[in-house]
Order: sequence, then C-alpha cells, then structure tokens
Amino acid sequence: MMRTHMCGELRIEHVGRTVTLTGWVNRRREHGEHLAFVDIRDHSGITQVVVDNSVDVRSEYVIAVTGVVTARTPDTVNADLPTGEIELKECRIDVLSVAEPPPFPIDERADNVEEMVRLKYRFLDLRRTRMQRNLRVRSQVNAAVRQAMYRQNFVEVETPMLMPSTPEGAREFLVPSRQKPGTFYALPQSPQLYKQLLMVGGLDRYFQIARCLRDEDLRADRQFEFMQLDLEMSFATVDDVLDAAEQSVLDAAEAVTGVRPAAVPRMSWHEAMNRFGTDKPDLRFGLELVELTPIFASTAFKAFSTAECIKGIRVPGGAADFGRNKLDGLTDQAKSLGAKGMVWLKVTDAGTFDSPVAKFISEAETSALVQALEAESGDLLLLIADDWTTTCEVLGELRNRLARPPVSEGPYRYLWVVDFPLFVGVDAATGRPKPGHHAFCHPHPDDLDKLESDPMSVRALAYDLVLNGWELGSGSIRIHDHRLQRRVFELLGINEAEADRRFGFFLEPFKYGAPPHGGFAYGLERLAAILAGEENIREVIAFPKPQSGLDPMTGAPSEVESTQLNELGIRLLPPSV
Ligand code: AMO
Repeated sequence: MMRTHMCGELRIEHVGRTVTLTGWVNRRREHGEHLAFVDIRDHSGITQVVVDNSVDVRSEYVIAVTGVVTARTPDTVNADLPTGEIELKECRIDVLSVAEPPPFPIDERADNVEEMVRLKYRFLDLRRTRMQRNLRVRSQVNAAVRQAMYRQNFVEVETPMLMPSTPEGAREFLVPSRQKPGTFYALPQSPQLYKQLLMVGGLDRYFQIARCLRDEDLRADRQFEFMQLDLEMSFATVDDVLDAAEQSVLDAAEAVTGVRPAAVPRMSWHEAMNRFGTDKPDLRFGLELVELTPIFASTAFKAFSTAECIKGIRVPGGAADFGRNKLDGLTDQAKSLGAKGMVWLKVTDAGTFDSPVAKFISEAETSALVQALEAESGDLLLLIADDWTTTCEVLGELRNRLARPPVSEGPYRYLWVVDFPLFVGVDAATGRPKPGHHAFCHPHPDDLDKLESDPMSVRALAYDLVLNGWELGSGSIRIHDHRLQRRVFELLGINEAEADRRFGFFLEPFKYGAPPHGGFAYGLERLAAILAGEENIREVIAFPKPQSGLDPMTGAPSEVESTQLNELGIRLLPPSV
C-alpha cells in the first residue's frame, strides 16, 4: 500500500501515529526561516504537513508524505478543516511526479475560471472539490438506480450503438460503413426500438443505463451524448411503469440527499396546461393561471369578446415593481411568444383598476376579476385572451420568467404528468395530425372510439416525470396490436406500403406475438445535476462538450486522413461559403 490514510481522514485520535499520505500539493506557505507548510490533497480532503523549507515541492506536485500525526496548538487549530486539529511533523517527502504551474488554481478559492479554460484543462478541473463531488453524486445515482432495477427483477441488457437510421425526434449522428460504402449506421437516439424488440423476445422487464446520442443544439439540459435510465416492461399498466421508474428515482434522490422524497403526485396534461401553461410545471412557486373566460362572456371589450380563452395571473405586490417600461417589455415578450397582446391591470386601494383598458371593463367584470384572482390592492394582474393553447403557453412562460427560482434551488418538487394528447397540432403540408410523442404510443382505451371521429381529443397512455420544471423523463404504453397500429398510421397519412418501407423492420416482429408493453426513460445527468445543485448538466459529466460542440481539450471533431475517407468512399465537398 502506498498510503495508510486518506488526506481527509486524520483526527485528534490519530495523534502519535506514523502515517503515510499520498496526493497533490494544494498549497505551500513559507513559515519563518526554516519551515514550510504544505497542504496535501486528495479527493477526501486536505492535511497540513510541516516540512523543512529546503524541500522542493510546489503546487500540484504529486507526493507521498510519511510523518507523525501531531496535535496543533490551540491557537493554530483550523476549525474550517475537518483535519484542522492536527498536522504531520517529522516528515519524509517523496516526490512521485513534478508539475508545471496549473493554468488556474485548483483550490476552491477560484470559482470564476472561464468555461473554455476549465474544459480545455478538464483533467485539472476534475481535481477540484466541485467536480469531485458531482461525479461522485453521478456514481451514487447510477448505483442506486441499478440496485432499484435489480430489486424489481429487471434484466440489464446492452443494445447496439450501430443501428439503422430511423428518422424520429432529433437529428442523428451517422457512421459511414466501410464494408458497404455509401451506406450509414446511425448512433442510437435512444434504445427505443431495441427495447421493444426485447419485449417481443420475452425478456419481460428490461433496463439499461444507456448512452444516447442526438445531434441537437446544446443547452443547459442538453448534450450530444447523455445517459438514460431506460426501462421497458411487458404485461404492465401505466401504474406499473410509473411505480418502477419512481422507485429508482426516489432511491437515487435518497442516496444523494439522505432524504427520501414523498410519493410523486400525478397531474393530467390538461390540468398542467390549464394551471401552469406548460407540460413541465414547476410547482415550487405560485402565480397559477386562473380561468377568466366566463367572466367576459358578454363583455363589451373587443379584445376579450372574441377570444376562445381568457386567463390571468396575479403578481402579488407587483403594481409598484412594474413601471410603464417594464410593462411594455412584458407585453413585447407576450407578443414574441405568440400572443396578440397582453392586458395588465394594477389593483388600486379602491378595488378598481389602473390600466389603459380599465374603461372597457365593467364594474361587475372588475369585481368578478378581483374575486377570481383573489387580488388585493397593490397587485399586478396580467391577462391573455387568445386560443386556449396560446393563452396557456404564453402565460405559463411569463409565469416562469417572472418568478421561477434556479432549477437547483430547493425544495425538490417531483410531478408525474399523465394523459398527454395522442396528437398535437396538424402537419401544415399534409393536413394530418402530428403524433405528440411518437407514432407507437397507445391511445387511452377510454378514447379509442373517438380515434377517427375526433382524433385531437384522444389522450395517449403517455407520461412525463418533471422535477422543478425540468423534464426528467418520458414514456408510454406502446401499441402492440398491429391492427390498432394501422389505424393510427392511417390517421397520420402513412399507408401500408410506406409503413413497411419506413418501419418494416420494427413492425414485422410484432406479427409474431408481441406482449402488451410500455416503458420509460429519464436523463441521468438531469437528475444528478439537480441533486448536485447544478444548473447545467455539463457539471455532472466528466468530459462534456461546450455549447459550440467543439471540444477544446481533444480538438474533436477533427479532420481525418484522406486514406480513411477513401476507404469509406467519401469525398468532401469544398466548404460552403
Ligand atoms: P425522450 O426523448 O423524451 O424519450 O428522452 C428521455 C429523457 O432523456 C433525457 N434527454 C437528454 N438529456 C441530455 N441531453 C439531451 N440531448 C437529451 N435528450 C433527452 C431527458 C428526457 O426526458 N425512448 C423514449 C423514452 C420512452 O418512451 O421509453 C425517449 O428517449 O431527461
């Protein structure tokens, strides 16, 4: 063994023992004429070592120190450090590796290091307490979810990284085939296809900590590569799937925070839209959307009389905070989000409104509004009148912009959003409904008879898990009956020949006895980031890409030798200007 203890381990009870520590020089301070203090660091912490100042060790040298654990004098005890009551004396230091001066200090004093510098020197950034903690949170999450899945009798199966291109959702990464030039594999956006085939294959309960790849624009909650806890279950109801997934998420949360969250509440998609204007409601704050349409049923106010849906939110005490400029800014935001306009009303002491449109709103409407929104003097009311979707979505977005705390700020509010619509909107080109999630979601059994007559009102057995306004995961019960699948395809305008051409390799197996099945997948980085108190999933990934997608550490993506391209039958076009 090169070491007897970790750098964060020694306490007063170790005094008198001779120990060996290994790690990096965190800091060196000269002390008097002959001595120097060297802080030695590993991931567990820091210990102060007293050495002769002739010893040549500097920041980030890798050393082994053998010395005697000694109590510090009371005036030199460092209460901020778990090892602050002791230090090592009578030391022998072996330099295991010398180090150039690092481009930024590794100790925690420096948290303003520029992102690109951190990523270029990620191997140094990883030495810092924050990344050490975050990657360990990741590992705890992985361990807990894996255990939860084993406990629930799921079988861990790996699925291929090289698969056929299947246009769905995001853009794919393609891999040219050497053996068949001109053809391509695609990297999996998710194991969706394979996990359903595993159900046809009788695996019954599958899970995988699966790497997924999507060529999409990077954001705080998106990377090209990410990991899903992916699961699929046969002979399972929505409740079964939600319960299995929930157990794993709650286990992970408990492993990291020490507190098991309460059972996750459920809300229908319709209610989520109505009350929060989004399918991923952040339940940590109020400002709920309030239905006002009936109040204006026979209004004289033009902007309201023709609208399908009128809703409002109340910003408590907002009247004073929002001057004319701010209100104009909010109105512009509402318009850029798709609303025709926004009405603002400031509630006065007399229970009337201070607003450019106050004169169009009758006394009865005024008091009904105040009552519905539970408004008090000094409040600001924001109203949108539009079609239902626009009204909900615009107010929902304004609600978030006005009051949403950072994602990672507690408390943790988990929510299942269930009964998503089977279709959302209409494809402008074909006039056909567009699938809400994908074409293989099972319609809600209670809505099956409306599939052809009123498809837009049909709910799907599809659900999302939301945490603090972030979508953690999605899933659905799948269609396993090819006759029902054909009905859905027909609505989407996909005939039998086209279905065979596009999805044949997927649909064919279902003719050989597919069990009813459904599943779910959630982003492990998203869960770990929130549990680690981070706003960007990059912070819980060892080697992430910056927003540009270009890796400053390795230089990827990079050009390749022309011989490699020749082998693949690829000739490059001149770069477009
Ligand atoms: P979906 O596409 O909703 O569903 O993805 C599930 C979850 O994966 C995470 N995620 C991402 N995380 C980081 N970066 C990304 N680019 C990224 N894209 C998605 C999110 C998301 O909620 N096969 C279906 C699941 C199913 O139906 O069983 C699927 O992949 O947390």
